[in-house]
Amino acid sequence: MFALLLAGCNDTQSTLAPAGTGAQEIARLSWVMFAGAAVVWLAVMALALHATRRRAAPHPPRSARRLVLVGGVLVPTVVLGTLLYHGLLMMPGLREPPQQRRVVVEVSGEQWWWRVRYLREGRPPVTAANEVRLPRGERTELRLSSPDVIHSFWVPALAGKLDMTPGRTSTLVLEPTREGVFEGICAEYCGTAHALMRFKAVVMEPDAFDGWLDRQAAPARPPDGALARHGQAAFRDHGCGACHAVRGTGAAGGVGPDLTHIGSRLSLGAGILPNDREALRGWIADAHASKPGVLMPAFHMLAADEVEAIAAYLEGLE
Ligand code: CUA
Repeated sequence: MFALLLAGCNDTQSTLAPAGTGAQEIARLSWVMFAGAAVVWLAVMALALHATRRRAAPHPPRSARRLVLVGGVLVPTVVLGTLLYHGLLMMPGLREPPQQRRVVVEVSGEQWWWRVRYLREGRPPVTAANEVRLPRGERTELRLSSPDVIHSFWVPALAGKLDMTPGRTSTLVLEPTREGVFEGICAEYCGTAHALMRFKAVVMEPDAFDGWLDRQAAPARPPDGALARHGQAAFRDHGCGACHAVRGTGAAGGVGPDLTHIGSRLSLGAGILPNDREALRGWIADAHASKPGVLMPAFHMLAADEVEAIAAYLEGLE
């Protein structure tokens, strides 16, 4: 049954299919603990079998006490103490800050999405959302925080999870070892849409990462075609820019995700929807339908052609 359950997993969200040094250590520790647990379980089962097969003569009190002391106190103390020691030894190496920094990534847990900022020395920060991109083969420092409630940042394939606590900044160092798109999730109950608070961690070759970040730093592309231009006007007239920023236009809101390059993202609604025209239309008209509790209001008053136009405009913001 266990094998069948495991067969349903893919390796983009699995601690046991590591794609980062942190996850490799955790996977190794998991297998050590699994092996240890298997040995203890076999020993207990063997004792239980032995007990049922012996003639039912009462144990003398001294040997019974010895069994309890050895099996119930000594062995668990030694086994758990060794595992704890082993785990504590791993921690300093995992937290060591990188020597050279291509970029520092700030991630803020919002209700219920991820605000992501890339900081490069001597250059203005680049704001994005719901996707964390990282260069392969380098240690990258992530600074995690939250303005209001506690979230937990977790990309199981890359490393362990770390809480995002209001009022403090926690540092997580990620060192991805292979390219790919990995699933990230919020691992701490944070309110209504907690289970729908996901993101993508995209690991790229360092050169490709630099090119991508340069493109993200650029202002938004002007709308291409009549429909997208109509969409930009509707976006402005209905006040979408009060919550969302589209750099290079008048929209500069900071409440919701930055939409400057939303067309190039891999998902919508913080990792829960594909990024295509149909999902954009549905999200603009009524985000609650796909994400109950989301703070973005429904826009039922928009005409269908306006929704279509705004969707076309956003889709073109690559
Ligand atoms: Cu954010 Cu759970």
